Amino acid sequence: MKLIILLALFAYAGARIPIENCDGIVVHNIKHEPQILKSNISSPYQLAIDFNTNTLFFSYSSSDPDKSFESAYFNLKTNEFGIITGIQGGFANAVDEHRNIVYLGGQDGIYQFDYETKAAKRLKVTDHNIWQLFFKKDLYYSSYPDEHVYVVKNDQPHRVPELIDTKGMLVAIDNLDNIYFSNSSGLFVHKKIKNYISYVGDYNVNGITYDLNGKLFFSTPDGLYYIDDNTKQVEKLTSIENVYGIAIEADGSIIYASEDNLIRLRPTKTYCFNNEKKNH
Ligand SMILES: *[C@@H]1O[C@H](CO)[C@@H](O)[C@H](O)[C@H]1NC(C)=O
Ligand SMILES: *[C@@H]1O[C@H](CO)[C@@H](O)[C@H](O)[C@H]1NC(C)=O
Repeated sequence: MKLIILLALFAYAGARIPIENCDGIVVHNIKHEPQILKSNISSPYQLAIDFNTNTLFFSYSSSDPDKSFESAYFNLKTNEFGIITGIQGGFANAVDEHRNIVYLGGQDGIYQFDYETKAAKRLKVTDHNIWQLFFKKDLYYSSYPDEHVYVVKNDQPHRVPELIDTKGMLVAIDNLDNIYFSNSSGLFVHKKIKNYISYVGDYNVNGITYDLNGKLFFSTPDGLYYIDDNTKQVEKLTSIENVYGIAIEADGSIIYASEDNLIRLRPTKTYCFNNEKKNH
């Protein structure tokens, strides 16, 4: 009887079947080992990878009370870490992979990263306080505190017409030009073909990114998710507590931010059965 109740509880909680070696992080039935890339970094947010140089860009909360946020980079090959100078309140990061441009967003506009000097140079595009940057054919950004979504064309910002009536904090475009965006009500998508906005789910999105193939992934404080662009369904990859952001390396490895670390998930050879509930 006890066993039955226990089994029922596991089934109810959607917990993994506890077989040997399968505690910890499981993605697609493969056990993953967390590898700490950079520790003791406070609240790393808004991760973006430059695939050309294998460099991860992110923001974090400065220990200097005069500064709010700082922009930083981490070379995923050499482990070189550095703080980016020349930017005020650096918070957002995006990469134009074709033109090799790294964009950074600060409290007074958009900057470009210079690999030679490791400094940011302000671009004459906008004075907005930038919450998030996303690059897909064009540069998109959201402004703070108004939560308006803009696209930059010919060095000029324009409200994204599809989102003119709504707030958006994080925005991402998929390979079919559908516009995903989050606000405090959850995650939504503007579908290109049908030209309407639909609700994806009650996700508290705190990071959204793409892999080398343009597939979208996002994080919430309790897990990592993937958006299947054929079905438009959200798949939960794994549950992790206190997630602050996500990025996907060129080889498909998942990198996420915890409260004070940047962590890579390395697949092991252990196959696990897991019944982590899909779709949330
Ligand atoms: C962590 O960072 C803080 C602030 O930069 C520093 O004061 C502290 O010594 C660091 N701790 C470790 C373990 O490196
Ligand atoms: C978030 O976006 C949806 C869809 O456009 C909208 O209905 C909702 O009012 C927005 N939430 C907030 C807090 O503005």
